[in-house]
Amino acid sequence: MTHASRGMGSAGEEQHTGRVRSLVWRDGALHLIDQRHLPLAFETVVCRTAAEVADAIRSMVVRGAPAIGAAAAYGMVLGARELAGRGADVRGGLQEVANLLKAARPTAVNLFWAVDRMLSVLERWPQLSDEELVDKLEAEASAIADEDARTCRAIGAHGAELLEPGGVLTHCNTGALATVDYGTALGVIRAAHAAGKQIHVYATETRPFLQGARLTTWELLQEGIPVTLITDNMAAYVMAQGLVKSVIVGADRITANGDVVNKIGTYGLAVLAKEHGIPFYVAAPVSTLDLNLKHGWQVPIEERDPKEVTHVLGRRIAPEGVPVINPAFDVTPNRYVTAIITEHGVVRPPFEEGLARLAQPEKRGATSA
Ligand code: MRU
Repeated sequence: MTHASRGMGSAGEEQHTGRVRSLVWRDGALHLIDQRHLPLAFETVVCRTAAEVADAIRSMVVRGAPAIGAAAAYGMVLGARELAGRGADVRGGLQEVANLLKAARPTAVNLFWAVDRMLSVLERWPQLSDEELVDKLEAEASAIADEDARTCRAIGAHGAELLEPGGVLTHCNTGALATVDYGTALGVIRAAHAAGKQIHVYATETRPFLQGARLTTWELLQEGIPVTLITDNMAAYVMAQGLVKSVIVGADRITANGDVVNKIGTYGLAVLAKEHGIPFYVAAPVSTLDLNLKHGWQVPIEERDPKEVTHVLGRRIAPEGVPVINPAFDVTPNRYVTAIITEHGVVRPPFEEGLARLAQPEKRGATSA
């Protein structure tokens, strides 16, 4: 991985919108905004091998379920190119590359979905030479990235009408940084704002990695969308004050029954929303559905380095030796979820049937708000 300081040419500012693009494929390398240091420093990281992409995902240079899926897809291209470059069999070696990338983070299903979609290229094109295969893989990765950007806009369009004017509380970062562009829950907020709704975002700080404080507020301030930062433990207070009309979050995995696995703290927000009679929306692409799992407790929850809890910005805040847990995600039971907003429409309880329909293109039809 090579690092570069502020240089918007690669990952960075999108030409037309001025919005950041979390990842860009350029000159045969994956350029990522280094999300660990924002907003204090704008740096990009360039990955030229699959191992570097896996590292970037593990260390959260790139994060957010759709963004890590797209990054892993390009990781597969880099892995295939490495194999071809040393005269090894690309078809034979790519499964190992897939395993390396899948092992980077366990919870977001988009990572597995994207890598498997890349592997399916091998079956679709059994006759191609290794060189032709690398080209096909590159085209597939770019399709995944481009589709994600379009998908987020569709999620935004479906969700915008659900948000009432007023306060919208969101958790973690689900914006352009967490996707290829635009965002899921933040995409809905963007679309509602663009449609002229008077939206005011309450962004939770999102301990311990501070995606809300560092990334969500940064994205929203850049676009002039009103935002107030709160610490995680202020959520009940702002709801009790009547400041929040809706809660909207993203997801790392949604199981067949509509349970939502998302950033640690989501479950608590959902319970609070119910207590205060506030609708709780989840915005996610269909690639976040895992209909093979019946319920959320079957999803592996990533346990991260205790240092993320004992330290803030590299500085120790807790006594040496204190036991710590650091689950990165939690499970919100479906009974707390008002609706799931996808690129193909909005699904309401009971979720099982609606989600199953979404996963089958021929049965989708119109899923209304
Ligand atoms: O640990 P992170 O920052 O990758 O977690 C991100 C989230 O939990 C997001 O809510 C989720 O991935 C959806 S992003 C559009």
